[in-house]
Amino acid sequence: MRLGLLAAARITSSAIIEPVVNLEGVDLVAVAARDLDRAKQSADDWDIPMAFGSYEELVASDDIDAIYIATPAALHHRWTLAALEAGKHVLCEKPLAANAAEAREMVDAGAAALDANGQILMEAYHWRYHPMVDQMRVVIDSGVLGDITEVAARFNLPDGAIPRTDIRWDLGLGGGATMDLGCYPLQWVTWAMGAAPNVVSATAETPVDGIDGSLTAQLQWDDGVSGQIESSMIGPCDAPEIDLVVVGTSGQMVAINPLAPQHGAKITVDHAHGAELIEVPTSTTYHHQLVAFEHAIDTGTPPITSGDDSLATMELIDACYEAAGLIVRPSLRT
Ligand SMILES: NC(=O)c1ccc[n+]([C@@H]2O[C@H](COP(=O)([O-])OP(=O)(O)OC[C@H]3O[C@@H](n4cnc5c(N)ncnc54)[C@H](OP(=O)(O)O)[C@@H]3O)[C@@H](O)[C@H]2O)c1
Repeated sequence: MRLGLLAAARITSSAIIEPVVNLEGVDLVAVAARDLDRAKQSADDWDIPMAFGSYEELVASDDIDAIYIATPAALHHRWTLAALEAGKHVLCEKPLAANAAEAREMVDAGAAALDANGQILMEAYHWRYHPMVDQMRVVIDSGVLGDITEVAARFNLPDGAIPRTDIRWDLGLGGGATMDLGCYPLQWVTWAMGAAPNVVSATAETPVDGIDGSLTAQLQWDDGVSGQIESSMIGPCDAPEIDLVVVGTSGQMVAINPLAPQHGAKITVDHAHGAELIEVPTSTTYHHQLVAFEHAIDTGTPPITSGDDSLATMELIDACYEAAGLIVRPSLRT
């Protein structure tokens, strides 16, 4: 697979540059940035042979089979559609789009491209590909927790961890805590229950107009299970709070850092017969994600973070914004 990078974003080092070194069959061939000097500098830094001064040139290149899109969320729709149209496979950063309407168009285009040419559209929800997911699944499905009654998840960062100049504080670029951070807790609780919840209510703090510095949503599943997700770019925590808690009639599972176990994670299970601590492997989520992308392309099989899964997450994000009285992130019309 000849891979091109659309944007010289900060996340690219962890998501692509580091894991690609240990992966056979993936060649990094080009990087594009809005500015050619910046593209050339990134190509030098990352030891990539080709640099383009526009995203259009990368998309049009015949030397590329697949494109990793790491722009702000509001540009994912435009460049995913362009890349699919040009016959490329796409690994698109999360969240898939600015809103569910865009995501629906992207998922439809991905399905059509798969049918027509075996092209893959995958959303970069890297956590889903780490072995920690199977470890949590074994606990939940073992029955040791009894009937599940409550599910809660958080991704909170201290105030200042994301400076106000960052893309995450820009409504037009698809900013907001729920877009950037809360998308993960929404996925964790949905994954744990095997179904998307209904958003019952939500409250947000908006230090910048329209942008949720923090948002907490109350959730309910059709079978009566209740839940909560919260995400914050403004604390009040002093250190990141990243966890998933599943409570049942006879036990409780607490998973610390299902986001990125490579930085330290653990699963504790308390139940009628005692307590259990499960060690989590420290391989990187990004390695597993890239392996899954390559496998999907090789086999022509859509990966788990595409299609309905991506759409469900975007619908939940929109529902959180609507419940909190905020506007759904607008589409960028260029
Ligand atoms: N999977 C993960 O763990 C993870 C972690 C962090 C971020 N992300 C996602 O990755 C994406 C990028 O995040 P990041 O933190 O890496 O952001 P970043 O460093 O600010 O990079 C954003 C990139 O977008 C490009 N861009 C195009 N139009 C832009 C505009 N109008 N304003 C600003 N930038 C523009 C810039 O590319 P050029 O100047 O190079 O053209 C820039 O390199 C987001 O979708 C984010 O949610 C994922």
